[in-house]
Amino acid sequence: MSTHTTLTSITLPQLAEMHRSGEKIAVLTAYDASFAALCDSNGVEVIIVGDSLGMVLQGHGSTLPVTLSDIAYHVAAVKRGCRRPLIIADMPFGSFQESPEQAFRNAVVLMSAGAHMVKLEGGNLMVETTQFLVHRGIPVCGHLGLTPQSVNSLGGYKIQGRNEEQAQQLVEDAATLAAAGAGLLVLEAIPNSVTSRIFKQISIPTIGIGAGPECSGQVLVLHDMLGITPGKKARFVKDFMAESSSIGGAIAAYVKAVKEGSYPAPGHCY
Ligand code: KIV
Repeated sequence: MSTHTTLTSITLPQLAEMHRSGEKIAVLTAYDASFAALCDSNGVEVIIVGDSLGMVLQGHGSTLPVTLSDIAYHVAAVKRGCRRPLIIADMPFGSFQESPEQAFRNAVVLMSAGAHMVKLEGGNLMVETTQFLVHRGIPVCGHLGLTPQSVNSLGGYKIQGRNEEQAQQLVEDAATLAAAGAGLLVLEAIPNSVTSRIFKQISIPTIGIGAGPECSGQVLVLHDMLGITPGKKARFVKDFMAESSSIGGAIAAYVKAVKEGSYPAPGHCY
C-alpha cells in the first residue's frame, strides 16, 4: 500500500502554523463526495463531517439520532470526493461518553472510514478521553460552547458563556482540553469576549461558529452558508449563495471572506 494515498495534504502541523502566522483557516461541513470535491477545489482546508447531518440531511429536529454508522458512511463518501482537506469526523451522541475505551473503539471506525481526526463535544469531562485517544494516535478536536448534543440539558440552542461563571468554565475547559492534547478546538455561539480570554490561554487553533473574528478559522454548516436551511437563521449564519451564481462560487466567496477577515462581521457576533 502506498502511504501517500492515505495521507491528507493538509496536516495538523500546517494548521498550527497557519494559526501562528495569522492565516485564517477555512472550514465547512460536507457529507458527500460531490460537495467535498467542491470544497476542495474552492480552497476549503478542513471538512467536518458533522452530526449536523441529522438535521440538514435526515430531517431530524436535533443531532441526537445520528449513529456511528451514519457518520462512517458519510466520512467514506467525503473521503472519496476530496484530496487536500483535512477531514474531521464528529463522534455522535452516545458513541464516546461512556468511557475512553468506548470512544477509542468508535473513533477507530471513523478513522478507518477515512477521517484524519475526530471531534468530541464537551469540556472537562472529555479530558481523560481526549488524552486516551491522542496517546493512541487519534487526533482530537474539542467542541465547546453551544454543544448541540446537550440541547436537552442546555434548554435549547442558546448562546453560552454569557455570565462570568459560564465564561470562566469555558476558559478552563479550553485550557484543560489543550493540555490533554486536543489539536483543534471548535467554539460555538459564545461572546467575542470569551473567545479572547480563551485565545490568551491556549496555543492550539480555534475554529469559530458564532465565536467572533479572533478565532484561527471559521466553520459553517454547508446548507446554512448556501441559504437552503429552512426556518430562523442563527445570528452567525451568512448566506453566501445570495451573491453567487454557483455553489462553487459561494464556497469560494466564503473562503475569501474568512481569509480576509470580512466574515464574521460584527453583525454575526455576540
Ligand atoms: O455538527 C456539525 O456540523 C458541527 C460543526 C458545525 C462544527 O459540529
